[in-house]
Amino acid sequence: MQRTLVKTAHDATGPMDAIFLQGWVRTRRDAKAFSFVELNDGSSLKGLQIVVDASLADYPQVARAHTGASVEVHGQLVESKGSGQKWEVVATQFKVVGEADGTYPLQKKGHTLEFLREIAHLRPRSNLFGAVFRVRSRLAYAVHQFFQERGFHYVHAPIITASDAEGAGEMFRVSTLDPKSPPLTPEGAVDYAEDFFARPTFLTVSGQLEAEIFACALSNVYTFGPTFRAENSNTSRHAAEFWMIEPEVAFCDLNGDMDLAEEFVKHLIRDVKTHCAADLEFFGKFVDKELLARLDFVLEKPFVRCSYTEAVEILNASGRQWEHPVQWGDNLQAEHERYLTEEHFKCPVTVYNYPRAIKAFYMRVNAPDAQGRETVAAMDLLVPGIGEIIGGSQREERLDVLRESMARHGLEEKPYWWYLDLRRYGTVPHAGFGLGFERMLMFATGVANIRDVIPFARTPGTAEF
Ligand code: 4AD
Ligand code: MG
Repeated sequence: MQRTLVKTAHDATGPMDAIFLQGWVRTRRDAKAFSFVELNDGSSLKGLQIVVDASLADYPQVARAHTGASVEVHGQLVESKGSGQKWEVVATQFKVVGEADGTYPLQKKGHTLEFLREIAHLRPRSNLFGAVFRVRSRLAYAVHQFFQERGFHYVHAPIITASDAEGAGEMFRVSTLDPKSPPLTPEGAVDYAEDFFARPTFLTVSGQLEAEIFACALSNVYTFGPTFRAENSNTSRHAAEFWMIEPEVAFCDLNGDMDLAEEFVKHLIRDVKTHCAADLEFFGKFVDKELLARLDFVLEKPFVRCSYTEAVEILNASGRQWEHPVQWGDNLQAEHERYLTEEHFKCPVTVYNYPRAIKAFYMRVNAPDAQGRETVAAMDLLVPGIGEIIGGSQREERLDVLRESMARHGLEEKPYWWYLDLRRYGTVPHAGFGLGFERMLMFATGVANIRDVIPFARTPGTAEF
């Protein structure tokens, strides 16, 4: 007989004479004449109540059905007499597939998130993580839907690369050389010409440069894949391996880029609100009481746009004692970003036109301002509770200006020859951005630590699972 998922059973429009379910026991309660078993199969937050009568031939099995055990149940779907659920199952057959004994670590409730991280192989079976990973799955689908419906093509950027897309030198090396006795150059350095790819190679920090290649051919593209950063940041919003969505649009400027980013974030929130309502309600109850109101608010209002120069003025007029005092030309720190979005504007804010000196080499150089200061057409989308979730820019499409920027960043032209070629042959104004998928999930769920929205977190000092 075909299996019915718990979610499908909850959504049933009438009773069913025969139903077959498979899943894991969440709790069991024994009365004199019957037992209640709560079965969860991950298809929904809410489990399904199974009633097993003591007169059933299989009843002795029930004694082995402890929390965590896997079971199979045949029975009838009937209207529940209990409150809080529409349907329950009266078992006609009940079988334990795999037992779990008293050492099963996920007993009842009250586990800390830190403890659950240590049992990352079992935490998807908890209410919280079941909800997180269902939302994660749905959100990934919504990403593709958003772009596919708008005529964007999905590009698979390579994971192994020889170029540093951000020019920040925070890359993990990929090598098959023997670390004990690598081949050396006459000068005594490791000779990567002898390595697998005959050059130094790394895990990618961003698929942007490859996306630019495709945007200059297919016009509207996006990447969605894992990216890696060897920055030693032990914060609640940094992971060494995270997923990023990077759209890239030909014939587009910074304004078009900011419009796309705003529309995209709103689409994702609208989608999870529609398709993951029960999970979001759970987060609103147990994780972040203001979540649902905040998501509604984000959908209703346009995001604020504020230039970097205005942002610095606001920060300095705030009367705050900043841990990192800020002057024009400085990077905005997390405390500044959070002040702008959480306290000053109290809504998502796109900060644009940053100083040229603090941004990546590929960003388009603006005309100097009245005071002769140089900015680039960059933008960061900041949201309450997290800070930056999107970073993007219009790209420098002028060959001479790009070469000058690369020189300023100390980048050699040779490894970027193909990137420069895009400016030699049919160059176009183009723009794009990167959305950190985990940060978006934190925003959508209210979960405060990036380690709790990715199946297996990679952070400095941890790669257990
Ligand atoms: O601002 P970033 O570094 O921009 C880029 O990588 C550009 N190449 C994007 C583009 O224009 N195509 O990163 C983009 C986003 C950040 O806003 C943040 O959400 C996320 O990626 N991010 C991280 N998320 C988790 N852990 C980290 N260590 C992250 N670093 C960046
Ligand atoms: Mg950034």
